[in-house]
Amino acid sequence: MSDLPETMTAILQTGDGYSGRFDGPEITDAADYLKTAEIPVPTPGKGQVLIRLRAASVNPSDLHFIKGEYGQPRIKDTPAGFEGCGDVVATGPGAEWLQGNRVSFVAGGVGSSGAWADYAQTDASMCIPLRPDVSDEDGSAQIVNPLTAMAMIDIADKAGEAVVISAATSQLGKLMISLAHDKGLKSIALVRRADAVEPLKALGADEVLVTTDDDVVAQFAAASKALKPIAFLDAVSDQLSEQLFVAMPNRARWISYGKLVPELPKLTQMGQLIFMGKQIEGFWLTRWMMTTPREDQAAVIGEVQARFADGRWKTDVAARLTLDQVVSGLADALKKPDGKVIITP
Ligand SMILES: NC(=O)c1ccc[n+]([C@@H]2O[C@H](COP(=O)([O-])OP(=O)(O)OC[C@H]3O[C@@H](n4cnc5c(N)ncnc54)[C@H](OP(=O)(O)O)[C@@H]3O)[C@@H](O)[C@H]2O)c1
Repeated sequence: MSDLPETMTAILQTGDGYSGRFDGPEITDAADYLKTAEIPVPTPGKGQVLIRLRAASVNPSDLHFIKGEYGQPRIKDTPAGFEGCGDVVATGPGAEWLQGNRVSFVAGGVGSSGAWADYAQTDASMCIPLRPDVSDEDGSAQIVNPLTAMAMIDIADKAGEAVVISAATSQLGKLMISLAHDKGLKSIALVRRADAVEPLKALGADEVLVTTDDDVVAQFAAASKALKPIAFLDAVSDQLSEQLFVAMPNRARWISYGKLVPELPKLTQMGQLIFMGKQIEGFWLTRWMMTTPREDQAAVIGEVQARFADGRWKTDVAARLTLDQVVSGLADALKKPDGKVIITP
């Protein structure tokens, strides 16, 4: 580590533990949760690597996390940011094989140091060496959403002939729509903006419904009757979701994987769970990674990189911020539709 600087710029979390609230991923001012600081460059421990950041992506999970409402507690004064792309510049014992590699990585868990910094520290097992034909920006959003898309469309494909996808303008929604199309799985996409209908149809969605339309439930019931979707992959999980689930056929599975709005749905048709074999469940990539055999994960990772390398998938970028612009500029950057905010050193 002798040629590395002693300190680095990092975006630190100012909160600790859980907030005990659930307000959803929106923020009005990042300074409520983050501050910029100069801190020591971390030293990788056993099985860990130090990564010089090229680019980090901002996901809703990062925002839930800094607000204290994600599936793991915040640690005050540690760098934020779960996902990025960079070069391995130092390794701890057992991780030497990654030295010099450009990798996609996930960081920010206990014992690691987050991606929104000049350098991130994480376990070697949280890194994926990148093909040279995958760009840094695609590399910075190569794990969380693409692996989730592959895993959930696999579930939907095994469950039936069609799938319902909410918040379909999200990066993950778009990845899933094109993947479903490639697999011959029909899709009903739900969006909240009418101007998103045609772009999503161009990506391969069979039906695109606008959730603000007064008769959206009737429109959905007709589409559901025609296409008979079984899996409902839902990142909104509100009362409308419940109404749509009720309109789905026997054996429908409402798979909640995100909570973009704070509203909690009320269940109105418990009998459907009993008599129609319907199910309500959750999906979390972290659990998928803990329970899916390594060789199966490797095959999925290979397919993900191939899809980005040949252009079947891409990361839409709405805004770019340097580290020193994050605290003042993140809230406004997140207001831009149709793409990720990318952070660079
Ligand atoms: N469980 C897991 O393992 C897992 C893994 C990855 C991602 N996720 C979840 O997947 C979701 C999407 O993530 P992402 O990174 O793809 O998001 P993203 O690209 O950052 O975009 C967020 C999207 O959410 C849409 N949105 C927000 N509130 C909405 C609402 N009430 N109705 C409809 N759309 C709404 C926005 O639509 P507009 O374009 O209209 O503004 C925007 O397109 C998030 O909830 C995230 O937490 C979960």
